[in-house]
Amino acid sequence: MRSDCLYTVVLRTKFVKIPINTPVLGKEELSAVVSVVKSGGLTSASKDGGKNVQEFEKSVRTFTKSKYAVSVNSGTAALQAALYALDIKKGDEVIVPSFTFVASANAIASTGAKPVFADILKENFTIDPESIAKKIKKHNLSVVEDAAQSLGSTLKGKQTGTFFELGCYSLYPGKVMTSGEGGVIVTNNKKLYDKLQMIRNHGMVKGYDSKIFGLNLRLPEINAAIAKIQIKKLPKFIQSRRRNAKLLSELLSDTKIKIPFEGKNEKFNWSLYTIATKNRDSILKKLNSKGIGAAVYYPTPVHKIPIYKIKSKLANTDWIIGEICKVVLPIKQEFYPGNPNSQIAICTLASISLLDDLKDSGILSNVAILGRLFSENKGIDSMIQYVYENRNIKKIILCGKEVWGHKSGHSLLQLHKNGIDENYRIINSVSPDPYLTVSKDMIEYFQKFFCLSLLISFFFLYSATISSGVRSNSSDA
Ligand SMILES: Cc1ncc(COP(=O)(O)O)c(C=O)c1O
Repeated sequence: MRSDCLYTVVLRTKFVKIPINTPVLGKEELSAVVSVVKSGGLTSASKDGGKNVQEFEKSVRTFTKSKYAVSVNSGTAALQAALYALDIKKGDEVIVPSFTFVASANAIASTGAKPVFADILKENFTIDPESIAKKIKKHNLSVVEDAAQSLGSTLKGKQTGTFFELGCYSLYPGKVMTSGEGGVIVTNNKKLYDKLQMIRNHGMVKGYDSKIFGLNLRLPEINAAIAKIQIKKLPKFIQSRRRNAKLLSELLSDTKIKIPFEGKNEKFNWSLYTIATKNRDSILKKLNSKGIGAAVYYPTPVHKIPIYKIKSKLANTDWIIGEICKVVLPIKQEFYPGNPNSQIAICTLASISLLDDLKDSGILSNVAILGRLFSENKGIDSMIQYVYENRNIKKIILCGKEVWGHKSGHSLLQLHKNGIDENYRIINSVSPDPYLTVSKDMIEYFQKFFCLSLLISFFFLYSATISSGVRSNSSDA
């Protein structure tokens, strides 16, 4: 590995934006798309859909443990199709949270029915069952789960989207997996399944025999081909997101920020990592100025959007929007463990984008990498923990000045200063930096196994900065 390459990417990260969510697409998706293009079968208006659509739907059935799955061309289309299948029409009312993406209400409006907005729970921002109860006018109602963002989340091991008659997922690129644009509906009800297949295809079964109302909601084959690959990767994506969420929560746990948490028996897919804070605007400004793509989700509750403008008393919704509105932080789905069999680890607190660059440079296959979003002492701890747990790793390369000097005074450089000899081997870490809480075991492990060949090139490049007291200049969010 050439150190000057690494240096270049370290510098570049300062200017690279970390988006909230970016799709993770690879060679497999590319070749699946190429195959569709070569085949010429770009779509199929047959009842069951094309080859890729069918394969994707089969995987969705398996993943969600549902009897049936019908793919469509967006999450919005999935909601529309579900409502059409339940014969929702003008004169009906559909209860929906106001604190959601506008698509939930728009899909209702598209049937001619009236959205009736319910409030949310303060603790987790999801729809409040008591608020629903107050708005119910008749019984034996159907439930459509708008699980657009929650594919892969579970309650007591059961997938969200599978608790009621119909569950709708979005495959938009900001979601945990994508098809470009797309959506999918799951159900265990054969009648609804048959209807959904027709609804996505102008109500047709064969030829031009429209039996019920429908639209062209078909998922094109190219998108289905991407989705078919992505759903195979979904468990890994979720695993990485879960790990990243845990790390973020560790980092933010000592602050006044309200961080998201999983309730009993809940497992999130961590599609979004939402925080609530009174300092929303200043935090956002600071994050954005550092290229971190945090944003307010959602700045206006749906009942206040001009097309709805309904006077509803939704106390918790108003509270969350007005006072401490949710801020979504980026949460990448790749943890960048690199090659777990590698003997070399590159550790950086600097930026996930750096790791993107490293990955693109092709060296990821030769290194085990740990990347972090923010530099905090806990970040360093878990980095050490990772290296400690991965017994293959014999060498660590530290990059990013935050690793070396930190505002609270702790740093691996400090450890280096305190305990390594001229050969960069830790020889005495009995009194490491007081702010660096590294367990004795870990230190012993360092003493025994690690040769910090590290810094070498970086040390010289950054030595001036370090000696002039980088700690106080740390650029943490
Ligand atoms: C809660 C919710 N419902 C529906 C949708 C609509 O999905 P799509 O953008 O795929 O149409 C989204 C998309 O972000 C969503 O977040």
